[in-house]
Amino acid sequence: MSKATVIAVDGPGGAGKGELTRRLASELGFKLLDSGAIYRVLAYAARKAGLALFDEDSLCQEAAVMDLSFEPTEKGVHVLLGGQDVSSAIRTEEAGVNASKVAQLPSVRKALLQRQRDFRQEPGLVADGRDMGTVVFPDAQVKIFLDAAAEVRAQRRVKQLQSAGKEADFELILSEIKERDERDRNRLIAPLKPADDAVVLDSSELGIDEVFARAMEIIKSRISI
Ligand code: C5P
Repeated sequence: MSKATVIAVDGPGGAGKGELTRRLASELGFKLLDSGAIYRVLAYAARKAGLALFDEDSLCQEAAVMDLSFEPTEKGVHVLLGGQDVSSAIRTEEAGVNASKVAQLPSVRKALLQRQRDFRQEPGLVADGRDMGTVVFPDAQVKIFLDAAAEVRAQRRVKQLQSAGKEADFELILSEIKERDERDRNRLIAPLKPADDAVVLDSSELGIDEVFARAMEIIKSRISI
């Protein structure tokens, strides 16, 4: 198994992991794993194939065969399913809720484990998810748990949607965030929680520049870069 450096960044949805991990990967010249996108694509592919999101056996088969790839572009990483760009389709609130449903199934998580570990390559990997530091890369050299209050995360999501010209209902988004948190934190397998050796960083009152600076301090205190 590769021992390349892994910086694991876990935390609830909307805490700012996506932006932080993109910046870290670009600063360090490391590869990037958006593990949430894998769960999102699986749920999306399952819906397209008419599968129920609790049909564990069929979902595992889909997980084994789905043709998923990530394509870096100037505007960010595009997610391809069977060569088709599904980046926007998997970013809806519904896709997030569906992803968290398939993600509670133990054999589905197992079926996706190796796919995620394969991203561990030299010169290093920044891994974004819920169980990067606890399950997928328990020996990661750096573990950060990025948290933020649910209200703050909902407000950020509202702003994001509005700036994309979309309608956004704060109360609805907040209740979806809480529902997803509840499922992610309380599931039996790989629940969302900081690894014992993770540094917890609360971004509720920090801007992205400050979060990035603090994350770099944590990284420099753990590895030589
Ligand atoms: O991070 P993102 O919001 O894209 O993740 C979507 C869902 O996928 C999460 O709510 C969670 O249920 C699931 N997930 C997971 N383990 C990961 C990444 C995501 O269970 N490592």
